[in-house]
Parts: sequence; C-alpha cells; structure tokens
Amino acid sequence: MTAAASAPPDQPTPLRETPAATAAGEYRSARQRLGQRSLAAQRIPIARPQELEQRRNPVSSTDVSPSAVPLATDRLVLRLHEPSDAPWLLSVFSRPDVAAYLRDEPWTAELARTKSTDRIQRSGLDRPSRTLALIIEHEGAPVGEVLLWYTDHERGVAEIGWVLDPAQGGKGFASEAVRAVLDLAFNTPGMHRVAAQMDARNAASARLAERVGMRREAHLRQNCWSKGEWIDTVAFSMLATDHR
Ligand SMILES: CC(C)(COP(=O)(O)OP(=O)(O)OC[C@H]1O[C@@H](n2cnc3c(N)ncnc32)[C@H](O)[C@@H]1OP(=O)(O)O)[C@@H](O)C(=O)NCCC(=O)NCCS
Repeated sequence: MTAAASAPPDQPTPLRETPAATAAGEYRSARQRLGQRSLAAQRIPIARPQELEQRRNPVSSTDVSPSAVPLATDRLVLRLHEPSDAPWLLSVFSRPDVAAYLRDEPWTAELARTKSTDRIQRSGLDRPSRTLALIIEHEGAPVGEVLLWYTDHERGVAEIGWVLDPAQGGKGFASEAVRAVLDLAFNTPGMHRVAAQMDARNAASARLAERVGMRREAHLRQNCWSKGEWIDTVAFSMLATDHR
C-alpha cells in the first residue's frame, strides 16, 4: 500500500508504509545522483543479458496480461468488477462484522457506488491503477473479492487483500481464490514478493494467509491508527522463491 494512488482504500493503513515510501524515494534520488558522477568514479557491475533487458524495460517486464482473467478454480470463477456488483458490495461491506478490521466504517449505499466505480477501474496490474480487483463467484453469484496491487511496480512488489461474504465462510472459498491470485501474481514476469497485512485481532484472516502458504514475518505494535485507536498489524509475505 505504499503507492497511495493505487492502494485499495479498504485495508488498514500501517504507518510503516511511510518510511518505506521514503526509502524508495531516497533510493531513486541516490541513483539519479550516481548518474551525474563521472563514469570513472563509478563501479559498473557486469550485467547478464536478461538483467540488461529488465533494466531497459522495467515496467513492461512486470506486467500481466489483462487476458489472464477471468480465472477459474475447481469451485470458483474470479472475474473483473461490473456495475451490477454494487448492491452485492453494499450487502457485504455494510456489515459491521465485515468492516470490523477494515479501514472503512460499514459502507453506505452512496459509498458502495463510489467503491464499485473505483473497483471497475482497477482492472489489471498493467493498467494505470496497477491493481487487479476481482469478484469471487460461486455458481454464478458473487461470494467475495480479492485485490492484488503493486506497491513497487518496478521491483515487482505487490500486496494482496481479501473479503468474503460471511454467509459463504468456512468452506475454503477464500483460500481457493487467494491461491489462484497468488498463482497469477507469481506467473507475472518480474513478480518478486506479495505481502498481506491485517489487524492483529483478525485471526480468520491470519489463518487464511498461513493456509495459502504465506509466511508470518512480523507483528507490528500499534503501528496503525484506525477508527480512533492504535492497532497492531501482523504482516505476511510470499516470495517468488517460496511459490510452488
Ligand atoms: C478473512 C476471511 C476471508 C476468512 O474467511 P474464511 O471463511 O475463514 O476462509 P476460507 O473461505 O478460506 O475458509 C476456511 C475455513 O473453512 C474451513 N474449510 C472447510 N472446507 C474447506 C475446504 N474445502 N478448503 C479449505 N478450508 C475449508 C477451514 O478449516 C477454515 O476454517 P478455520 O479457519 O476455522 O480452520 C473472512 O473472515 C472475511 O472476509 N472477513 C472479513 C473481511 C476481512 O477482515 N478481510 C481481511 C482484511 S485484511
């Protein structure tokens, strides 16, 4: 969620993102400064042809084709958002139990329309939003959603988030959908890391992250100001080298 412009707005916003964003900015500044020094003063590493190609095309090398969706799993179809999903989004995100550990308060009808329009525009990692927002369908009806978005497109670093209709919980639907999106992520050339972070009280979400093979890597104490209080965040990740 480092890139505020592309960060899905329903997830908690840990404060640790700000230093990360600053560090990325400092790195770019340092590289620009290096470019202004004389060549003789620089140590120039020898790059392999593949590395040279990635450096020439840092953006296109990490793109995923929009034709990658819809995705099909044993029981589910994951497809892009449509205007007709707005009532379903309202029915789920207006529930206090669903909103409990998300950034937003329970949605109103007006907010659901705005969020639906926003999600329709989040139609691919290769689009300006750098986000893939997918509806999870079971037997032709929406049951949840999964979002995947770049936090550092150039370096292939992304984040994933998920929500399931509570009426459809406890059947493994969210796990099945998240596994499919992780497969898509790591089949995207250049994808290096996918992170997930959640309110530390959100035990169901943490179990899901573990179930799909993400590694628990941090418990951050009171790093996020959410709904009038400091909350702890737990962080998970999967690296390309973890993904099988
Ligand atoms: C987080 C959330 C998606 C998890 O939902 P879930 O129903 O627990 O997840 P799944 O659909 O993968 O189902 C897994 C559960 O079904 C059980 N299950 C039954 N059949 C299964 C199957 N075929 N495969 C896998 N699990 C199965 C599992 O044992 C598991 O239960 P457990 O966690 O009690 O052991 C859901 O709680 C949610 O949407 N919460 C609100 C929104 C939210 O907080 N999102 C996260 C923001 S960071």
